[in-house]
Amino acid sequence: MTTPLGEDFAGDPAALLRWYVDAGVDETIGDEPLNRYVTRPAAPAVAPAPVVAPVVQRAAPATPAPPPAVAPVDASATQLAQAAQTVDELRAAVEAFTGCGLKQFASRTVFADGNPQSRVMFIGEAPGADEDRQGLPFVGVSGKLLDRMIESVGLSRETNAYITNVVFWRPPGNRAPSDEEIASCLPFVTRHIELVDPAVLVLVGGLAAKTLLAKPLGITKLRGHWYEYETPGLPRPVPTMALFHPAYLLRSPQQKRYAWRDLLAIRQKLSETAPA
Ligand code: URA
Repeated sequence: MTTPLGEDFAGDPAALLRWYVDAGVDETIGDEPLNRYVTRPAAPAVAPAPVVAPVVQRAAPATPAPPPAVAPVDASATQLAQAAQTVDELRAAVEAFTGCGLKQFASRTVFADGNPQSRVMFIGEAPGADEDRQGLPFVGVSGKLLDRMIESVGLSRETNAYITNVVFWRPPGNRAPSDEEIASCLPFVTRHIELVDPAVLVLVGGLAAKTLLAKPLGITKLRGHWYEYETPGLPRPVPTMALFHPAYLLRSPQQKRYAWRDLLAIRQKLSETAPA
């Protein structure tokens, strides 16, 4: 048995294991080693489906230029997603879907948590190690902070909040999902929003904001403003706010004041849009 650097540990697997631990390997993500330099055979070509990009407008003060088109999406994903008429059907469709490359590395599909009847829907970035283990979004350290943040404005995943991500599988090594991986999940995310039909949509972190607002701006510019998220399957545009990601707030606690401001604006919007 040799290491990637050529040291030979023949007959001493414990020494080999110690070598890996000393080198900083603290987690195995598969039983077989994976050579990432080998190109995989391309997936069979599918005709691109006509995709309607979500229409997103800044609510005030001015309407910006139309958003750039979203990346091309897998036709079968669009068909599967649109065929789902309930959140449970959509969950089953996501679990059966094999068109996102992340799935082969993940242990669990992380679909959503909370109450799908909620008036507020939070969409984060991607599952991490804890989420992959439990099959639920935002259950690790940053998830605990998200829970505290939303609880501070009277929301909780146990009762009146619903939480998901823009991709349903953990990217290996917690890297950011690629544009292609995000695009493959996007038809399901769009349908998810349509089926939940929230009164307010909250995009947690820059990646979720960039994906769903389709704007070439970072989270620092996007947060703190209301946008309108629209698709043909929604009865009305959904007021949408981007929020700093809790993982970022853990690294930069001085930014929490802005998150607090945004949470108060979300609470206010929920009370303004409360059903009579
Ligand atoms: N970060 C996310 O964006 N989503 C999760 O589910 C967990 C961490």
